[in-house]
Amino acid sequence: MEHLPEQHTHQAGASNHTRSRVAASLPLIALEDVTFRYPAVASRHERTASQRPALEKINVTFQRGEYIALLGHNGSGKSTLARLLNGLYLPTAGRLLVGGLDTRHPVARRRIRELVGMIFSDPDNQIIATLVEDDVAWGLAARGWPLARIRERVTEALTAVGMEQMRGRPPYELSGGQRQRLAIAGVLALAPDCIVADEPTALLDPQARGEMVALLQQLCQRQGITIIHTTHLLEEAALADRILILDAGQIVLSGTPTEIFSDLERLQALRLVVPQMALLGERLRALGIPVPVNALTPESLIAALEQARGAASQQEPPGREALQ
Ligand SMILES: Nc1ncnc2c1ncn2[C@@H]1O[C@H](COP(=O)(O)OP(=O)(O)OP(=O)(O)O)[C@@H](O)[C@H]1O
Ligand SMILES: [Mg+2]
Repeated sequence: MEHLPEQHTHQAGASNHTRSRVAASLPLIALEDVTFRYPAVASRHERTASQRPALEKINVTFQRGEYIALLGHNGSGKSTLARLLNGLYLPTAGRLLVGGLDTRHPVARRRIRELVGMIFSDPDNQIIATLVEDDVAWGLAARGWPLARIRERVTEALTAVGMEQMRGRPPYELSGGQRQRLAIAGVLALAPDCIVADEPTALLDPQARGEMVALLQQLCQRQGITIIHTTHLLEEAALADRILILDAGQIVLSGTPTEIFSDLERLQALRLVVPQMALLGERLRALGIPVPVNALTPESLIAALEQARGAASQQEPPGREALQ
């Protein structure tokens, strides 16, 4: 496992989307020595607190078509990093480039916000209109698009998130998961190269959580959209191509889910909650039962056990009795 952020190459998924892409030779997003410090506030107590930067000298690149999970416990800097990625916050030092454009440049920022869309935990902060389709159309209408093209793009975006049937409904009639899908459709309408999702499942029930992560994965695989997903849940990060772990404003670990989950003690030391299934998997491996380290949910563990059992019954390897 890398102990410093590494350069990762990943082929973008096939896409027939009309998204305009930045030069393929550049990383989509590059952070160069990025430090961010919140402004000191009036009270003496808080001024002391904000002297420590929320992020310190971050160097990392994100490639087109990657699914990256940013993991970290409360206050580690995930949301701060997410908000730097489309220029909502600007680095205090260092620079952040999106497709080669510097977020500090006011003219570039408009383009950067089209390239990098954001969704947050609470979709209600992003829903503006009184009808689903008008909400998705909002960003395009504000850019002066002709009505026919807006309709086309709205249909495309709502179809991609499985909400086409609900285009005439008011958002307040939707479930939390559906409202989060609507927020994603609003971002998709602008044809982004990247979606930054800051704890997008925090307010959802377990089923809607699973559906949300599946949707983000689908957008990555089918449309080649880079997904940067912040979470404190290892189960969600297990589905990423690459995981970065933040602690006290620094990237302390970086690797594939398999690399990251092979050291559960380290993850516990970083104050991450290791799922019971990961601990059970570790015990099973100690007994010689080959379950993968990234099987972190009951379903994935059962699937891994069934696979191991099927393989054992065909090959009769040592340790078969342990599976029965
Ligand atoms: N508006 C703010 N003003 C001052 N300090 C802040 C502000 N927002 C966050 N911080 C501080 O910056 C650090 C990083 O916070 P951030 O919200 O990025 O963490 P996080 O990983 O997203 O946490 P959580 O899991 O709770 O969402 C923390 O020490 C936090 O107290
Ligand atoms: Mg946060």
